[in-house]
Amino acid sequence: MTANTVLAPLTQIPSDLQTLADYEQEAQKHLPDMVWQYLQGGSMNECSVRSNTEQFEQIHLLPRMLQDLTHGHTACEILGQTFPHPIFLAPIGHQQQFHPDGEAACALAAEVLGSNMLLSTFTNTDMHALKQDNPYKWFQLYWQGEREKSLVLVKLAEAHNFKAIVVTVDSPHTGIRDRERRVFFHLPEGMQHPHTPAHIPLPELNEGDHPVFNGLMKIAPTWQDIAWLVQQTQLPVILKGILSPLDAQLAIQHGVQGLIVSNHGGRVLDTGIPPLTALQLIKKTVPADFPLLYDGGIRRGSDVFKAIALGASAVLIGRPAIYGLASAGALGVAHVIKILKEEFEITMALMGTATLKDISEEYIFQKQTN
Ligand code: GLV
Repeated sequence: MTANTVLAPLTQIPSDLQTLADYEQEAQKHLPDMVWQYLQGGSMNECSVRSNTEQFEQIHLLPRMLQDLTHGHTACEILGQTFPHPIFLAPIGHQQQFHPDGEAACALAAEVLGSNMLLSTFTNTDMHALKQDNPYKWFQLYWQGEREKSLVLVKLAEAHNFKAIVVTVDSPHTGIRDRERRVFFHLPEGMQHPHTPAHIPLPELNEGDHPVFNGLMKIAPTWQDIAWLVQQTQLPVILKGILSPLDAQLAIQHGVQGLIVSNHGGRVLDTGIPPLTALQLIKKTVPADFPLLYDGGIRRGSDVFKAIALGASAVLIGRPAIYGLASAGALGVAHVIKILKEEFEITMALMGTATLKDISEEYIFQKQTN
């Protein structure tokens, strides 16, 4: 097999890059095949990867006309913080695979566009290198196998002015990713992870131990660990990867202050409930002001609108930000955010909604399937 030709990142944005889908096509030209398969791939049959984007097509908008929108804006408030708009950058690790500037480029773009950025535990960029006084940054925590090591990262994030701790709970084990296996996916030799080892060390297995249940599952966090963590930090703790309303209830009982409804881009468990459906179920069971964020398949400003109408306070974009990063570094990420933000603003205007508070289920028409 011959290696694909990898183009250098763009330094200017050509006029044919107008949509997030354009950026997806462009990104492939700038990445080695192994990295592309890692980025695009999902778990098993990739049904969840596909349905994350397709679910938005099943939901129709029900616009209202002749409203006075002259006081309109996109600001939103979550846990006492006001954000200029509700499009956040999802936590994605090992970003130097996609562009040499990695998270530093995403952080710069996020800062310029007023996007809240969620920095991954597996960042290649030291959190010290991110602008200290930028208030729009949350830290994503992967449990470090034990409480004390996890707390070290939380304290570091506090010291670097991060405003919330987002614990990813949907991937105590990596998914079965056929594409990665086919291309022998591996991280580049010598890749730097300033805050954590590239892989959390596995417990030693004794004769007769089960490789999964006595392996990664032995060091996976539990609700007790979450309750403990909440007690250790002044920062709000948010869980990412909740899909069941029962877990939403448990989260509240254990002191969690917000949830990110997500299936990890379809990368972990395949054929789970579509996250947009989960959002609607969870919304019915939590207090009206409990922050729910939405992650999965957002590709258009109308998708942002639909997620907010169905209960989200804000949305995360994952792969699209990386399409921008791979295509043109910070410039590309900034352009991706700008495209989506503008599409969302124009959707709001066409829907007759002036603020995020106006956007509700009343603006959605869903076909009855039974
Ligand atoms: C890690 O979070 C991944 O999805 O690869």
